Amino acid sequence: MMSSLEPETQRRPPSTTRTLRAHRLERVAPQVMLVELRDPDGRPLPPAEPGAHIDLHLPDGAMRSYSLCGDPADRHAYSIAVLNVPDGRGSRFVHGELEPGATVAIGLPRNNFRFDEAPRYLFIAGGIGITPLLPMIRAAAGRGADWTLHYCVRSAAAAPFLGELRALPHGRVELNAADEGRKLDVDALLAATPPDVPIYCCGPQRLMEAVAAAAQPAQDVRFEWFTPRVDPVREEATADGLEDDSFEVVCARSGVTVTVPPGTSVLEALDAAGVAVDSSCEQGICGTCETTVLEGEPDHRDSVLSDAERAAGKTMMLCVSRARSARLVLDL
Ligand code: FES
Repeated sequence: MMSSLEPETQRRPPSTTRTLRAHRLERVAPQVMLVELRDPDGRPLPPAEPGAHIDLHLPDGAMRSYSLCGDPADRHAYSIAVLNVPDGRGSRFVHGELEPGATVAIGLPRNNFRFDEAPRYLFIAGGIGITPLLPMIRAAAGRGADWTLHYCVRSAAAAPFLGELRALPHGRVELNAADEGRKLDVDALLAATPPDVPIYCCGPQRLMEAVAAAAQPAQDVRFEWFTPRVDPVREEATADGLEDDSFEVVCARSGVTVTVPPGTSVLEALDAAGVAVDSSCEQGICGTCETTVLEGEPDHRDSVLSDAERAAGKTMMLCVSRARSARLVLDL
């Protein structure tokens, strides 16, 4: 059936939600609050691997994704660390409203930043970007792997978890504190890193773009994006006034077919047609809306999939990605 589009603003939250209690709040840096969440009845929580994140459902209906920074082996607590940013809805809630004992709804852990076993690691963090790396570094240190962390911060005093990181065995922390005039030479660091050393990076967009630009093709570099990755080719196309094309999306299981016009996401088109798809960030960074592609060629615009996953074209993020082919068939 062909469905017409209607304006629609309500999105369906992920179905895998749970209500937890804010067991402990602790300021771990002047602008960073650690929140430890536990089940109100003490029930165990689903496991979470290093690199996983959860969605925090805010009282105003918005959702924000935060990396888990606690011990993945602790099945009774999830910990997140939230930076206090001006006008940030999540940070305003955590820093200004959330009290110990209050309950909050969360989306259960998802992981777009897989951590694989290796004998050596290079970690590159900028500020609050340390949060997904912390469980990885703990795991690497626990296994006796050789690790190095380059930690870029405004000052040592503003760097969350610095004391713990410096105390972990088998590795070292290179602190690049702006107030000490120390700036990371990304090009030199990447050039000196052998291709068999996996590189995990999280931080401000500028730092991650610099690491991506300096990486050699043979290097295994993995990123966790907090904000959508900038695509220079698309930016240029937008600046030139080039508009996206319409395309057709067929839902193989439900039989629904929709046309996705320029300016409308696949997620919005399906939502208007009554096809519910879990979503969260709607910016292509959390992976919640990832959907299997059965036919057609996606035009990937997310910040989640690797280059290899993009080339394979087996899945796509419906909130941002579009189609290169006139028709996509999805496993919905
Ligand atoms: S909703 Fe987050 S990637 Fe689509």
